[in-house]
Amino acid sequence: MEHYKLFINGEFVDAQSGKSFESIDPGTEQPIATVAQAGKADAEAAIAAARKAFDSGVWSGLTPVARMAKMQDFADQIAQQGLRLAATECMDSGQIMGLAKFGPLLGIGLLRNLSLAAATKFPWEEEIPISGNVFAPGRDFIRREPIGVCVGIIPWNFPMTMAFWKIAPALIMGNTIVLKPASVTSLSALIIAEAAKAAGIPDGVVNVIAGPGGELGKTLCTHPDVDKIAFTGSTEVGREIMRMASETVKKVTLELGGKSANIILDDADMDLAVEGACFGTFFHQGQICESGTRVLVSAKIYDEFLDKMKKRAESLRIGYQMDPTSHMGPLVSKQQLATVERYVKIGTEEGAKLITGGKRIEVQGIKGGYYYAPTIFANVNNKMRIAQEEIFGPVVCVIKFKSDEEAIAIANDSIYGLGGGVFSTNTARAERVARGVRTGTMWINNYHIFADFCPFGGYKQSGVGRELGLAGLHEYTLVKRIHVAAIADKKSNMTFQLMSDYKKVDGFSYNCPTAVIAGHGALSAIYKAMVDLGCRRALILTDPGVRKAGLADLVKDALVDFCVGMYDKIPADPDLASVDAATEAARELDADCIVSVGGGSVIDTAKGVCVTLKNGGKANDHLNLLVLTEPQTPHIAIPTTAGTGSEVTNAAVLTSTGAGRKLFIVDTHIMPNMAILDPRFTMTLPKELTVTTAMDALTHAIEAMTSTMANKICDGQALQAIRLINENLPLVVADGKNEKARLNMQIAATLAGWAFTIAQVGLAHGMAHTVGILHHVPHGAACGIVLPKVMRYNVDHAADKLALVAQALGVDTAGMTDREAALAAADAVEALMKKAGHPMRLRDVGVQEENLPICAFHAIADTAVLFNGRPVNDPNEVLEIYKQAY
Ligand SMILES: NC(=O)c1ccc[n+]([C@@H]2O[C@H](COP(=O)([O-])OP(=O)(O)OC[C@H]3O[C@@H](n4cnc5c(N)ncnc54)[C@H](O)[C@@H]3O)[C@@H](O)[C@H]2O)c1
Repeated sequence: MEHYKLFINGEFVDAQSGKSFESIDPGTEQPIATVAQAGKADAEAAIAAARKAFDSGVWSGLTPVARMAKMQDFADQIAQQGLRLAATECMDSGQIMGLAKFGPLLGIGLLRNLSLAAATKFPWEEEIPISGNVFAPGRDFIRREPIGVCVGIIPWNFPMTMAFWKIAPALIMGNTIVLKPASVTSLSALIIAEAAKAAGIPDGVVNVIAGPGGELGKTLCTHPDVDKIAFTGSTEVGREIMRMASETVKKVTLELGGKSANIILDDADMDLAVEGACFGTFFHQGQICESGTRVLVSAKIYDEFLDKMKKRAESLRIGYQMDPTSHMGPLVSKQQLATVERYVKIGTEEGAKLITGGKRIEVQGIKGGYYYAPTIFANVNNKMRIAQEEIFGPVVCVIKFKSDEEAIAIANDSIYGLGGGVFSTNTARAERVARGVRTGTMWINNYHIFADFCPFGGYKQSGVGRELGLAGLHEYTLVKRIHVAAIADKKSNMTFQLMSDYKKVDGFSYNCPTAVIAGHGALSAIYKAMVDLGCRRALILTDPGVRKAGLADLVKDALVDFCVGMYDKIPADPDLASVDAATEAARELDADCIVSVGGGSVIDTAKGVCVTLKNGGKANDHLNLLVLTEPQTPHIAIPTTAGTGSEVTNAAVLTSTGAGRKLFIVDTHIMPNMAILDPRFTMTLPKELTVTTAMDALTHAIEAMTSTMANKICDGQALQAIRLINENLPLVVADGKNEKARLNMQIAATLAGWAFTIAQVGLAHGMAHTVGILHHVPHGAACGIVLPKVMRYNVDHAADKLALVAQALGVDTAGMTDREAALAAADAVEALMKKAGHPMRLRDVGVQEENLPICAFHAIADTAVLFNGRPVNDPNEVLEIYKQAY
């Protein structure tokens, strides 16, 4: 009799205890081989070998392509062992030869297919283009790495296939493995080990130890050097394995029991369904975890179906597994035979109707063997134990249902969810039923079909994780995220500031993709801009005031044939519905470019439209920060106020009624492609709006100076904007037609917009947003009123920057300290506002005093406040500023 040894660290060895056991042919009950019986010491030796091999990098350090080459050698060695493997499997496990002969072929296919997929399709490393954390600029990527030492514990029903299912993915993904086959069926796994050795898989990468589960299982599942356990077997043992693995928090995948429903709808092809039900239950003597052991049959066809199924079951030939005429062989063991007999007794006692089978079979010419007849129970209630508990033998329960819904409900009334089937001539109906069943696999008009790239695994108590396919490969890797900071410098790190008194961010990146064209008549550049952008169908977005001033028509004329329409219903401080309505207009006209003509309200709406047009859905879907990865719908912005700078900024401020506040889209990809600064477009702006929008720009510039994000580029832009506003605001107030001064104001607003994009701005903005949303105070007016107060609040945190602001505002700072100059800057702002006729108090613009506390609470949560030069953590301080401004 042949003797099989354990395979540890590349060697075939006897057990350290010297023990061995016999493997029995279940078809004859005769011993066919002896096998070394591993104990704790052998398990520890195998784990040590696997650990050493993994840690050495001899396997895990290879590229997936190099491992694929080795797996192909492995597959070739399996091919060479093919006949021996098939015959041994057949004798050892009771699988009929017609089934066992596929084992090696399937194994070869799996090794080759999965190793090729791992080498060519698996995402070993993946860039994360947008991390979702706006405070941590840099590169983020993930790596998938092998887990380490894996233990595979496999059952006796498909010993060879299960060995491949565990060894292949573990090795392909760079792990090492200790495999423990079921003691009654160890032989094929030990032959596979021979093939691995012959293929030159390095020592210790594959180890196979045989023996009964108890002590071996405990050692394998609790050993600290084991990183993962992949188990296939009963739910009961699965629970125990999970418990044992929890001690050292091992990764666990479990493929456990099932009580799957095979649903026969009233419109099924009767012969096909009968065949599917018999194949789904009696194939391999019913010893398959996902067998359709609950056949659910429509009441309309129940009697006819049952009759045909009985006849078909009785026509199956039960015989010795090596006899080529056998449809079914023996059960695997005496123990399994006893289990089946016990459940048949239970079924009869529970009141189910045994219509065929229910007895052992004697095979002619053979003494002994665990043969059992295909057994059908009719009139089964799904609550019976025979319908709820896994029998793992050729016993099927046939259950009646009245509607598809009831069939789904019965199917789902189980602790298991592994497989299942639907038979119907209506594919759509069958798919609806398949979707309703809570289970890992559903076959329609088929059963027991596996494929290398189709994942297999359980819902509910049928398991954890998946095998096969890319999903199965993922189960053998761990995900590592690697973040590389954009700038490796303490003072450039926004997050470290949380534990530091130094809030300033020193490093920066600067990106301003908007092309700017400025000057009288700059509008005429729009035609070429359209051509350069490759666009032909511009939609003009504007508001009624701007249209009435004749500005939108100027643009329409300049666009000539490239204009497909004009949408002029954008309100001041637009909300998401305004964006959706404008997007709808753009969709209807099939616009390929948006031309915004207006102030911040129109330009911001246009930004929202460009994102929604490009990405679909509604504006509310796109209120995100820094998530876009590519250019959006082209946008040409023509500002008609000299205020927001939105024509060059990366922000769109949109009111969300759901959130009850202004929310943002912030992204480099929403910066308009071109900004046209033509002074003719602001000359019609009424005096009051001229002043309040100018205060918006001035607030951008001054807050940019004191922001924690400020840098030298931003400072340059901001200071020049302040100078231009200080010089030109009085001029445009005096004469709105002063074209040169109007252009300078536009340039100032654009410069301030750029500065604001870098600086993300500060407390005055947060406070202005709040009174804007709660009291409808125009943004610029609210900014202006609170700005000098916020400058004074910031004085001890940004005196040097505010001193520069003072100079830009024309204050003679000679002889002043920075602090004195900073306070003088605040005074100068107030003086400028008075000179320009800007409202000076919140009470003058409709804010009620009793609402100030609620404003303070809202303001503190505004994003802009995060970047204020002085940290703002106390709503009482903000309330105090509101009171000063009141
Ligand atoms: N995206 C950004 O970077 C950014 C920055 C700051 C503010 N904002 C937002 O911008 C909005 C405010 O924009 P705004 O201050 O430019 O005002 P606005 O766009 O709301 O326009 C105000 C009014 O002025 C009228 N108007 C505009 N230009 C005119 C002209 N040339 N002649 C006659 N009438 C004219 C409009 O018809 C409108 O009634 C707010 O919602 C604010 O939150 C956006």
